[in-house]
Amino acid sequence: MNQHARVDPVPIPFIDVGAQRRRLGRAIDDAIARVTAHCQFIQGPEVAAFEAELAAYCGARHAVGCASGTDALMLVLLARGVGPGDAVICPAFTFCATAEVVALVGAVPVFADVDAATFNLDAASLKRAVATARRHGLTPKAVIPVDLFGLPADHDAISAVAKAEGLFVLDDAAQAFGAIYKGRKLGTIAPATATSFFPAKPLGCYGDGGAVLTDDPDLADTLRSLRVHGQGRDKYDNVRIGLTSRLDTIQAAVLIEKLKIFSDEIAARDRIARRYAASLLDVAIVPAVPDGLASVWAQYTIRLKPGLRDAFAAKLKAQGIPTAIYYPKPLHRLEAYRHFPVVDNGIPVTDRLAEEVISLPMHAYLDAPTQDRVIEAVRTALKP
Ligand SMILES: Cc1ncc(COP(=O)(O)O)c(C=O)c1O
Repeated sequence: MNQHARVDPVPIPFIDVGAQRRRLGRAIDDAIARVTAHCQFIQGPEVAAFEAELAAYCGARHAVGCASGTDALMLVLLARGVGPGDAVICPAFTFCATAEVVALVGAVPVFADVDAATFNLDAASLKRAVATARRHGLTPKAVIPVDLFGLPADHDAISAVAKAEGLFVLDDAAQAFGAIYKGRKLGTIAPATATSFFPAKPLGCYGDGGAVLTDDPDLADTLRSLRVHGQGRDKYDNVRIGLTSRLDTIQAAVLIEKLKIFSDEIAARDRIARRYAASLLDVAIVPAVPDGLASVWAQYTIRLKPGLRDAFAAKLKAQGIPTAIYYPKPLHRLEAYRHFPVVDNGIPVTDRLAEEVISLPMHAYLDAPTQDRVIEAVRTALKP
């Protein structure tokens, strides 16, 4: 045996869904077994029970489960009658689903820029984007702020512009369920909030799932109709065009168990984020959390000086530490979206962020020695 053979460091996971699975143990198995015993796979009792718990968790009056975070966004646009000739303002620095749903309902996404410190929609750019939309002959109907990486957007400033311009606010909290904006949880801030239960999200299920949170009983009723083919009094009394977009009973059963440990997990993520920030702020730009806000840290995303990122990622990979880039191409540069309008003074912050951001491993089960490994690798890689 070669005594000098190099031993590669054991790779760590970027998100450890398995660690949470081990913690939940039998509780999840039992929850799933209850569904397979009663066989009400569609709209079984766990769905209404989970919706009630989800609404109570964030303080919203209604939670309407559906098949994904994308559908949650689209269902609200359908309920609001957004369609051809309408514009919906979206940040350009987000996952494609934010704008995809706008195009799917036949409206036009108009891209606005984000704030460099928070990565979230810049209210001044939103205002300009409304004017851009009008110049394109479109009727601005709504804005979809995104609470990117788990941090709430600047909702007061956004809702002030929305009010002045007559826009409906649909909050895309796909990455941010549980986050706090000035003392209140997301789900109660905008008139409608969409979230995702994709497995890698802070509150994820074991497949696809999503929900809309709202205080508006009429909107909630319309959403419940839309998710079952636009049903009226029953499913063969169709009063509007809808789709199939229900939250599966098994997923609701899984989510009921996960919600029980969710606050504890958010607290763990926050402790890790604070430790990362304290240990890395002299070598990278660490995420800013404005006063009064709390992130759920769907991602822990730092910024590096331009040109450093590829070599940095390679050095971490060699240490067994994965990284990810959210998002290497902003929406207005993606093939499917590049023909849509961009706010007239451009999107320089988004363009810069797409070159500089890189996300580090982040999940509630990242133990102290593993945090140390990440911190040490980042510091070494960025040493001048
Ligand atoms: C910002 C944002 N919006 C919407 C979605 C769509 O959620 P889903 O994957 O559940 O359809 C995601 C999911 O990645 C997202 O990150």
